[in-house]
This record gives sequence, C-alpha cells and structure tokens, in this order.
Amino acid sequence: MGDQSRIILVNFDLMASTRRLRLILLALVAAVAVAHPRGASGEPVRARHGMVGSADEHASRAGLRVLQRGGNAVDAAVAVGFALAVTHPAAGNLGGGGFMVIRLADGRETTIDYREAAPAGARRDMFLDSAGQPVADRSLIGPLASGVPGSVAGMALAQKRYGRLPLADVMAPAIALARDGFEVSWALADSLKSAQSLLAQSLAAARAFRRADGTMPDPGDRLVQRDLAATLTLIADQGPDAFYKGAIADLIAAEMARSGGLITKADLSAYTPRERLPIIGSYRGHRVVSMPPPSSGGIALVQLLNILERFPLAAYGHNSSRSIHLVAEAARRVYADRSEWLGDPDFFDVPVAGLLSRRYADALRSGISETRATSSRDVKPGQPRTFEHSETTHFSVVDADGSAVAATTTLNGSYGNGQMVTGAGFLLNNEMDDFSAKPGTPNMFGLIGGEANAVGPGKRMLSSMTPTILVKDGKTRLVVGSPGGGRIITTVLQVVLNVVDFKMNVQEAVDAPRFHHQWLPDVIRLERQGFPADVVAALEAMGHTTDVGADMGEVHAIMIDEATGLRLGASDPRQDGRTLGY
Ligand code: DON
Repeated sequence: MGDQSRIILVNFDLMASTRRLRLILLALVAAVAVAHPRGASGEPVRARHGMVGSADEHASRAGLRVLQRGGNAVDAAVAVGFALAVTHPAAGNLGGGGFMVIRLADGRETTIDYREAAPAGARRDMFLDSAGQPVADRSLIGPLASGVPGSVAGMALAQKRYGRLPLADVMAPAIALARDGFEVSWALADSLKSAQSLLAQSLAAARAFRRADGTMPDPGDRLVQRDLAATLTLIADQGPDAFYKGAIADLIAAEMARSGGLITKADLSAYTPRERLPIIGSYRGHRVVSMPPPSSGGIALVQLLNILERFPLAAYGHNSSRSIHLVAEAARRVYADRSEWLGDPDFFDVPVAGLLSRRYADALRSGISETRATSSRDVKPGQPRTFEHSETTHFSVVDADGSAVAATTTLNGSYGNGQMVTGAGFLLNNEMDDFSAKPGTPNMFGLIGGEANAVGPGKRMLSSMTPTILVKDGKTRLVVGSPGGGRIITTVLQVVLNVVDFKMNVQEAVDAPRFHHQWLPDVIRLERQGFPADVVAALEAMGHTTDVGADMGEVHAIMIDEATGLRLGASDPRQDGRTLGY
C-alpha cells in the first residue's frame, strides 16, 4: 500500500466514529489501494508456450513451474491458488471461496463454483438486531461472518477432473513456501501492517504473522507458516476430505465452538463444489465465456455487452464523455437488475435467459439517452421474466496447448473476518456480508439486494466475481478477471471494451484509467489518474454526479495473439502482481 493510502487511513482513524467503517476502509484500501505509479511501457510480457499472471510473484512462479513440469493450465491454476493462500494472505485462501472458468484446448468449456455456503444454522435475520436493524460488524468480523469455505474442495475438484498431475505435485510449491518461508515484499509488509488491528483480534492470526518481538514483519523478513504447511501437507496427502471431514475439519469446528460461530463438522462434510455451465454471450464477433450464478459477474457482463454493442463506442472514443456516459447508463440498469434478480440459483429462480436475451437488452437500451443521464431514482430493476424462453484476487493461466483458466478467489474483505483457525494456520472469510442482510441496506461494497440474495441455510451469497474467457474463431483470445467487489464487473467490462472496441494491446487495456457506476449510489466513480477535467465536466453537464478517487481493480490478463499464437500477458500496474511466461 502506498503512502497515499496510509494517509487516508490515518485521517479516517481520526474521523471515523465506528469500528465498522474503519474496517471497511481497511478492507477496501488494502484491496484496491493506490499503490504504484502506472507502468510506463504499455508492453505486455511475451512468451511462446505458457503464461501465468497473479497478484504475487511467488505464486506466479509456482504456476509456471507446474506448467514446465508437464502440468496443464488447470494444474497450474490450482498451484497458483494454493500458493496465494501462503504468500498473499489478504485474499489468497484456504478459508474462503472462488470461481474458476476453464476452457480446454479442445474447446470444452466449464466452470467450477467453490463459493462459500451459509452454515445450516444461518437465519435470514441473523445480522439484524431485535428492532430489525443491521448490527454493525456482525457480517464482517468474527465467526458469524464466515461462510463454509469452498476453496479446497473447488480446487481439488477442478484438478481431479481437468488436471494431469497428482494433487500433491501441484501443491508442492505452496507447501514449500509455507514450510521454508519466503521473503516478505514491500507490498505484503504494508498490507500486513494495515491489517494489524484486525489480525490482533485472533491470537492465532497475530502469532502467525507477527515477529518474535510482536511487531509485524518488515520487507525482506522471512515469513514461515508452520501450521499452514501442516494443513497443506494433510490436504496433499489425504485429499480434500482432510479439510472437510478429517483433522482440519476438527480444528475448524473447535475454532467455531470456542468463538461462538455456526460452522459445524456437518456443514463442512456437506459442502460440495459445483461444476456449472458457463454463461455464454457474444460481443462484436467474440464468444464470451464467464461465470454463472451464484456470481452475478457473467450475467451482468453479458448484459452490459449486449446493451453496449448497439453503440459505436470506437467512434465515440476511449474514455470520452460520450462513451463513459453510455457505459454508466448501461451499468445503472444492469446493477439494478442485479439487486433484484440475482442470487444462488439453487435457492432462487434466477431468470437467466431473460436477463441474457438481446430483446431484453434492447428494451433496457431504449431508455438510454445519448446525451442525458437518467437518475437512478427513475431506474428500477427490469422485468426479464417476460423475456424468458426459457480482498479478492484473480489469476489467469494459459498452457502450451492453449488451455486456459480464469480464476477469482476471495476471503471478501482483506484478511477476511480476521480469524485464523487455531492450529491450522489459515484465515476465515467474511463472505456472509455478500448476502443482503436486509432488503435495501447496502453491504460493504454499497451493493443492495432483496429476496434473491437473502441469507438462508446452505445458500451461497451472491458474488460479483467475473473470471472470463473471450474466444474468437474458436480460439481462446483473452483470459481476464479482477478483484474489486461490485467494481469487478465494470473492470472486466472495460478491459474487454479496450481490447475489442479500442484495439489496445493487453497491457494498454489493463493500464487504461477505469470508471464505475453501480446504479446506487448514483455516481460515476473515476480513477484519479487519467480523466481530463473537461471529460469530468462534460459528464456533470449531462446530469451525472462524479466522484474522482482511488484506483479500481487488479487485473491479470493474458491474450493469445491471433497471428503468432504468442502469449501476451499484463499484470495491473495498480498493484504488485507479476505475469511470467516461458
Ligand atoms: O464475491 C464478491 O463479489 C466479493 N466478495 C468480492 C470482494 C472483493 O473483490 C474484495 N476485493 N477488492
């Protein structure tokens, strides 16, 4: 985290009257902080065979090693996922969940949903007080904030069904990183320091990350995580049952019992990752392959693209006031739908076909003026049923055969609920905050929801994660995704538009300044760098409210060059990730 972010924190500490607000800020700042100057080159990383891009160099190297030893993209992705749980503890995880979009070289496309599920003891009103008002913090900190973790089961399932190597081989780099330790980077040192007060609430977490003298590690220190190494070794030796039924399940259940949490051994053994059909869309000659519910990401992305395809964005110009206006107007409508219609499809009848239909997109588009902003007060969720025929982290992998994985995984806030499972060395998520605690009450990301995303036992909370693969003429062209809460969808959208409409190379597409609208609050957020004052003024003149502020997202994207087959990778200059290839 850069100096700028630390100043925000200090000021906020002085101002904030509630702990909840402080922790929300901690999470957001650690996840999307203005950290680093933009990369100057705009040139992608190039390689002939395989490529891995993730939020952490050790993790990218773990994936690369697995590719070079004969693993495919899925093996490498799982190696990266486990390594991130060691080297990027703010978001990489064993105690959280995620989504993986897979496209194999032979054209098979699938997704793995390993989103957390509410424990059986969860109740619709569990985050409300006796007056029916949301209790600050309850869905964010401490044991009630955690859903039943899905990451271990999901990664093991993906690897078993679509990988080539034994699970133990794929997990070996993560185990070595935890057991032998690794050098703490500047970014990790800053991030751990910023989370110090959250992590101090859990004795196990404080012990895992603090030095012997009780202070947080400095850059260059070696971080060894013995309990985590033991946990990873058990999983490598015994498979995911060790986590869901065996010794690790015992530790999780004991941690919950001790701290008043709801997750039981029965919840753990009932957890099942799901293989789901991807959401498929098309955009100016590209096939879009993305994540279905319980993420809203794929549906929202395809809805946005369906609306925007009708406008000549390239002619209007990249980040011109006209283009930004149209994207914001489309997003206003799509996020309104998200609040009403999206939730866990095993519990709520999501009108997928209606939401994805082009006639529905046309109906939404017909309400958009090219010159005037609509007020979000006048935009309500649409009626897609009538059209029915029927600190997160992203990593991208492409292997030598052309198989590809886009995976996004999260604890939700940075370092999740701050609670480490004693003896097991990993943090638990605070994903329960992604449920709608009460209709119309915003969650940590300002997103609202209702019935579709109400808390329910066994139900998966709605996500915005949007791991996505773009295909052109039957061949994988772009692998992309990002963290950023509700801003994930618009971040991925803009990378796609930058490549397809604005003909940028992958690094330029990732570097380009971003903006965001999510219906409510009714405001266009613009990144601090890159939007000229006259563009902002033009948007205001159209009737938009603007808010110029922090950076958004952390994309790791890989493109395959149509002519040469070269792998072209880009890590987001906003953070410290690394793309490596061979
Ligand atoms: O699933 C979701 O949409 C959120 N839990 C993602 C959280 C996130 O991206 C935090 N990082 N910025």
